Amino acid sequence: MINLLKKRILLGISGSIAVYKIFELIRCLKKKQAIVRIVMTRASKKLVNKLSLQILSNCRVFDDIFYTNNSNIMHIKLAKWADLILLAPATANIIAKIALGLADDLLSTICLTTQAKIIIVPSMNNYMYRSVVTQHNIKILRNRNILIWGPSFGRQICGDTGLGSMLSPNIIIKKLVQYFSTPLKNFNIIITAGPTHELIDPVRFISSYSSGKMGFSIAYVAASLGANITLISGPVNLSTPPGNIKRINVISALEMKQAVMNNINNQNIFIGCAAVSDYRISNFSSNKIAKKDNLIINLIKNPDIILEVSQLTKNRPYVVGFSAETNFIKENARKKLIEKKLNLICANNVSKNRFYNMNNNYNELYLIWNNGEMLLSLNKKQVLAKQLMKQIIIRYEKDNKY
Ligand code: C5P
Repeated sequence: MINLLKKRILLGISGSIAVYKIFELIRCLKKKQAIVRIVMTRASKKLVNKLSLQILSNCRVFDDIFYTNNSNIMHIKLAKWADLILLAPATANIIAKIALGLADDLLSTICLTTQAKIIIVPSMNNYMYRSVVTQHNIKILRNRNILIWGPSFGRQICGDTGLGSMLSPNIIIKKLVQYFSTPLKNFNIIITAGPTHELIDPVRFISSYSSGKMGFSIAYVAASLGANITLISGPVNLSTPPGNIKRINVISALEMKQAVMNNINNQNIFIGCAAVSDYRISNFSSNKIAKKDNLIINLIKNPDIILEVSQLTKNRPYVVGFSAETNFIKENARKKLIEKKLNLICANNVSKNRFYNMNNNYNELYLIWNNGEMLLSLNKKQVLAKQLMKQIIIRYEKDNKY
């Protein structure tokens, strides 16, 4: 089972009566092998005693903004130490303070200082929660990419029934495990998939056998790893995979290029999986061409989308290409890696005698990069997509040293 091994979690406790759930939450965090430090607000200390919390949880508990240890200023040290700040329970007051950027005690000061993710688990009376002010503050925090988990609906300790109770420790733990198992969180990835259709006239086109299955499988895997996906697809017969996937349907290479360029800003990774038609018809006929003995079609070159992406001088993403080959698979792919200035290329054999050619559920990929290569052997495209994403993450991390 995935755990929270060595994740440094700073637990901020504010003065809600749901603080009684905190002991169970800390027990579960430690069972999952997280390293926990606790920061208490003044109000929370009215509800639970600092010393007993320290003894029972066996965690270091902090509450004094002016406490320094040698030259360590505690709010800076803790803000930098944390992988994640979990405010549970979080009162309307601490939510309002963070929304406003107030820094009048240790916990709010840490929240203002930290670069770590902040997750808020609200806990308050349902009228307080639904109030215009609290809802406004929550909206501000969401816009700052602070996560709000809960509250849950139910009978409250004050006797009211409604939305405002702190989520159970079990649910919080499940969400934390999920959070840490999504290595591509906040990553933006564009994936092109499928063929393009280059119209000859309103009813005829030239294209390829590409099914889009590889690109759609990659989109599914990358989304399940937490990435925000823009899936730019040529005409395919596939439904959009679940997850955070914005799909843009296009027909031709020119449309695909436009969609890519409209969305290329702030992308971490570009994966060009589409079988973009290299040529388009130079003299598209808006009327259906009548049958003749001989029809000569003039083709002109389409723009090379992936090359344009890898030539970007500003905000260039990590660029992954595909190379469908029938002979000299690796040699041709390596040539394209260099010519198209790619970070990584995935070569596959699409010769007719291979049963796993283009429009198929199986594939075999050679991954080639500047100073290395690796074979992902014959497998279902869904499995290959997982293996490929793993390698992309490893290579991306090496190249970007983040
Ligand atoms: O040159 P070739 O078509 O074999 O290169 C394949 C790679 O280039 C793929 O990643 C494909 O998506 C991309 N490509 C492109 N625009 C083109 C042709 C190919 O982005 N016009």
